[in-house]
Amino acid sequence: MADAVDGPEGLALWARAERVLPGGGVYLSRSGRFAGEGVLPGFVCDAMGCRVVDADGRKYIDFICANGPNLLGYGHPAVQEAFLKQAQKPASMNFFSPGMVELAERLVERHSGQDWAVLAKTGSEVVTLACRVARKATGRSLIVAFNQAYHGSDAELSPWPPPGVPSTRLDDIVRLPWNDAPALEEFCRDHSGEIAGVLFNALDQNSFQPTRFAEPAFVRAIIDAGQKTGAALILDDVRQGFRMDPRGSHRALGVDPDLLCLGKGLGNGYSVSALLGREALRAGARGIMFTSSLHFEQPPMQAAMATLDAYDREGAFDAMNRAGLRLREGLLAAASATGHVIQSSGPPSMPTVLFEDDPDHSRGIRFSREAARRGVLIHPGLNGFLCAAHDDESIDEALVAVEAALAATPLRQD
Ligand SMILES: Cc1ncc(COP(=O)(O)O)c(C=O)c1O
Repeated sequence: MADAVDGPEGLALWARAERVLPGGGVYLSRSGRFAGEGVLPGFVCDAMGCRVVDADGRKYIDFICANGPNLLGYGHPAVQEAFLKQAQKPASMNFFSPGMVELAERLVERHSGQDWAVLAKTGSEVVTLACRVARKATGRSLIVAFNQAYHGSDAELSPWPPPGVPSTRLDDIVRLPWNDAPALEEFCRDHSGEIAGVLFNALDQNSFQPTRFAEPAFVRAIIDAGQKTGAALILDDVRQGFRMDPRGSHRALGVDPDLLCLGKGLGNGYSVSALLGREALRAGARGIMFTSSLHFEQPPMQAAMATLDAYDREGAFDAMNRAGLRLREGLLAAASATGHVIQSSGPPSMPTVLFEDDPDHSRGIRFSREAARRGVLIHPGLNGFLCAAHDDESIDEALVAVEAALAATPLRQD
């Protein structure tokens, strides 16, 4: 592609990838091509702080942050040290490890109301497990989820019809509209004894859509759904965890979950996730075989503990939000200086940047490409992420590039 952001090395890697990777949607948003072909650099070889380096050695200020895992900054020294220290020893050994107990203790202590933790590798695994725990504990099968919300790669939880899956496997998931309190109330009235769990996020954050916060009536309806039907309230905090509130986004939302799923930023990029649960659901969790040979790998657990320490010690939450506000203000000012109307929705630490009057997203995509060509990564269709390593200097540097990228983006598509 003539004007692709990828340089010769990146393009050569794409050619090789096309031969041996299946392509298409198999990796979905984790492929650079989810943004469109040639819009973002497809291959990242190195990263430090808030910057990444592509296969051609080009540097970018990154507002994608590996889709969330980069919480403190890539290569955070304390996390690297903890991981590498443990990695001197074999990663996977027999049975439990002291670090596993310690991390579970730390998570339970950190999230008041939660009494136990199951550790795993990915967000998908723990969300799936949460639904199973809710079903086992209640003896019911229905899971209520909302709109298009993504809850991981388990086919049953797919927000769109998942190819290759018998339809009978999808019968017990109900999708209701976000922010529609009456719809949730009515469903709960009609199916009170059938609902095992209500699976929700603190935000409605879907691709190519503005982020929506929850309205108070909807929050009330979620709480009532738990209280009136006995369903478990399952918070999927895999994406929003650590970015809306240091101790779980339910605190920003005002809901006390029965089950809480963490992942992404928990290990600052190392593969560790956790399902936390209340005492009442412990028996449900005990009865489920959920194990994997590599779940007990120790270095990511050490990385997670170092991440929690550094996050608190360094005021990461405030840093991300401060940087996000500076980015938002600068972006909106640059848009008005160049004649664009842009909407930046969501909390400052997770901005979704969309152009108004851009139904086919072509201007947003063009802007992303222009920004990438000037050394800034802003996704055209997914919410972005700030990390604690975004400082005033990097934001201001990014904003210079952003304004030039906006000036190079046509005001209207011909
Ligand atoms: C809200 C939410 N839940 C679950 C997942 C799945 O997590 P993972 O990709 O670690 O399996 C994601 C991933 O993007 C997510 O955003």
